[in-house]
Amino acid sequence: MLDPWTADAFDYDKLVKQFGIKNFQDELVKIKNPNRLMRRRVIFGHRDFNNISDLINTNKQFAVVTGMMPSGQIHIGHKMVVDQLIWYQNNGGKLSLPIADLEAYAARGISFEKGKQLAVNEYLTNYIALGLDVEKDVNIYLQSQNKILSDLSFRASMKANFSELKAIYGFTPSTNLAHVNAPLSQVADILIPQLEEYGGPINTVVPVGIDQDPHLRLTRDITSKLHEEFGFLTPSSTYHRFITGLTGGKMSSSKPKTAIYLNDETKDAVKKLKSAKTGGRESLQEQKQLGGKPDECVIFELLVYHLIEDDEKLREIKEECLSGTLLCGDCKNRTCQLLEDFLDDLHEKQIESREIAQTIFD
Ligand code: TRP
Ligand code: SF4
Repeated sequence: MLDPWTADAFDYDKLVKQFGIKNFQDELVKIKNPNRLMRRRVIFGHRDFNNISDLINTNKQFAVVTGMMPSGQIHIGHKMVVDQLIWYQNNGGKLSLPIADLEAYAARGISFEKGKQLAVNEYLTNYIALGLDVEKDVNIYLQSQNKILSDLSFRASMKANFSELKAIYGFTPSTNLAHVNAPLSQVADILIPQLEEYGGPINTVVPVGIDQDPHLRLTRDITSKLHEEFGFLTPSSTYHRFITGLTGGKMSSSKPKTAIYLNDETKDAVKKLKSAKTGGRESLQEQKQLGGKPDECVIFELLVYHLIEDDEKLREIKEECLSGTLLCGDCKNRTCQLLEDFLDDLHEKQIESREIAQTIFD
């Protein structure tokens, strides 16, 4: 069972096998200008992405849906989604970005008021500061305020029953009904761009973390049952890995020591990174002899996911680490500098972005 609300450890290969997710590698070769996360296998799996790569390669339009559940602080792991959205926006994708305040209420007890405030100040402000153009034909809405969404969600619920939801999510007779209901809103989120009022059936991709796959299985099943009535096309999806937290486990919105929050003071973030776990050896001598372990290193992962764009440069660092010529102290200092530059620049951009974000729901 893969539970989207409590999942924390992932065996990616096993999930791919168990749930019939396809390896992204097969699609990667078809895409003309894959983005950093695709090239580096951070995006590792997909369902039916071939429908989308064909459209990208022929410059045709498609829809992109991914939601944000406003339950806490946004961290550098969330930047992954934004980078993908920007790439899609530049490659023919028409974006729809639900704010899952219903889900945040059902799963985390966050009030609608608080959810909206987090959506604006944490999520949207940073999405814009990171480079997303929210004025370019993007549909951003709060689930709780969207009548089209609630109607579609209601109609979707006609096509699912309790046994199916129980099989997918592990619900029990004591699960409260808001929790049972929330996934149906997500199904509707994913299908909204295909309604006549938004232009009718269109191929859609949902770029998400692997914990969201249960929602895609439900959506794809319901879509086929609504096909006759609405003409909906089955949505595609991609799955990315999660960034490791600074203490080795999961990077978490609610555990400050594990995360670099985008709204952290730069000096605090750098301090956290300075004490992060590396893939270095016990002693300097051992490091020189055996080399480091970049694949088990939080510092290297940050470089891979976010801080170095140039593949060649990244390869050099990996080789130097493996051969023992690069020492963790130096490598860490350099990474801290990159993080400092990134956050200082982001914080400057947040000032204007916050003003734009605050107008979105007015
Ligand atoms: N459930 C998602 C999360 O926890 C948020 C979400 C809501 C979503 N609606 C969506 C994701 C539609 C993808 C598509 O982050
Ligand atoms: Fe990690 Fe850098 Fe040390 Fe290698 S040298 S283990 S990449 S910190």
